[in-house]
Amino acid sequence: MDGIRAMDGMRVPIFELEGAGCRFGGTEALAGVQLRIGPGERVALVGQSGAGKSTLLGLLNGSIAPTAGRVRILGQDLRRLGRSRRRRVQRQVGMIYQQLHLTENLRVIHNVNGGRLGHWPLWKAIASLVWPLEVAAAARALERVGIAEKLYERTDRLSGGQQQRVAIARVLVQDPAVILADEPISSLDPTRSRAVMDLLRDLSLETGKTLVASLHDVDFARSHFERLIGLRRGRVVFDRAAAAVDDACLAALYGEDSEAESERAND
Ligand SMILES: Nc1ncnc2c1ncn2[C@@H]1O[C@H](COP(=O)(O)OP(=O)(O)OP(=O)(O)O)[C@@H](O)[C@H]1O
Ligand SMILES: [Mg+2]
Repeated sequence: MDGIRAMDGMRVPIFELEGAGCRFGGTEALAGVQLRIGPGERVALVGQSGAGKSTLLGLLNGSIAPTAGRVRILGQDLRRLGRSRRRRVQRQVGMIYQQLHLTENLRVIHNVNGGRLGHWPLWKAIASLVWPLEVAAAARALERVGIAEKLYERTDRLSGGQQQRVAIARVLVQDPAVILADEPISSLDPTRSRAVMDLLRDLSLETGKTLVASLHDVDFARSHFERLIGLRRGRVVFDRAAAAVDDACLAALYGEDSEAESERAND
């Protein structure tokens, strides 16, 4: 299939994994993952610490290569692409990290503009550090996440919740087809957590962008996402509509007797 046509996301799934696995030395972080995620879907990855959520997000943004099976992002197997076409696909996948990866001693605008770096030539990136470029786009993104007044504030003077919004604004100016978020609320109090989850859900609804997030909080996963994928010890133990996630699913995820429970949850 032609690469450009495949990248518009309408004719092909956003993500397609076939028997995908990932091994780090002796650790099997993921195994046998079979998955399709379509345009506009909101999907939460849930499971205990070490279940493989971050590793799966790494496969989805192409920062981790599968050691087994196949991963297609916007119809493309990154291993078959040259560097520039690989980067073009990866630009369509925005990522909000658990550690926000903000440069704290820079002003907010520079961190937001970080989302444009994949689009900008080097001279522009350097020039913008001295004299910020594309200020209007950055300001619009900050307005959308509710902190318009922080454009020229130093990032380390912002609260944790505000810094999380800067990370979201940075993804907005990148304007990807899909937003991935790795535990976007793990360091926030309950009120800020709800505000950030509402924001991510609303952005996905407004723009039609696919949203895939890992979450420890199953209640937020069920209230803000349409589909939940449960991971345990690197395997998918359920993949179903949020409304259909019941106690048996949660027992498969967190219960003692994982083997028997996961069999039942998959029936
Ligand atoms: N770069 C790496 N090198 C070695 N082992 C790794 C690496 N990344 C992940 N692992 C291992 O793979 C497994 C899955 O880790 P992963 O970070 O995907 O889990 P997680 O579900 O995101 O956990 P958490 O909820 O704590 O973030 C763990 O056993 C982890 O130790
Ligand atoms: Mg993780």
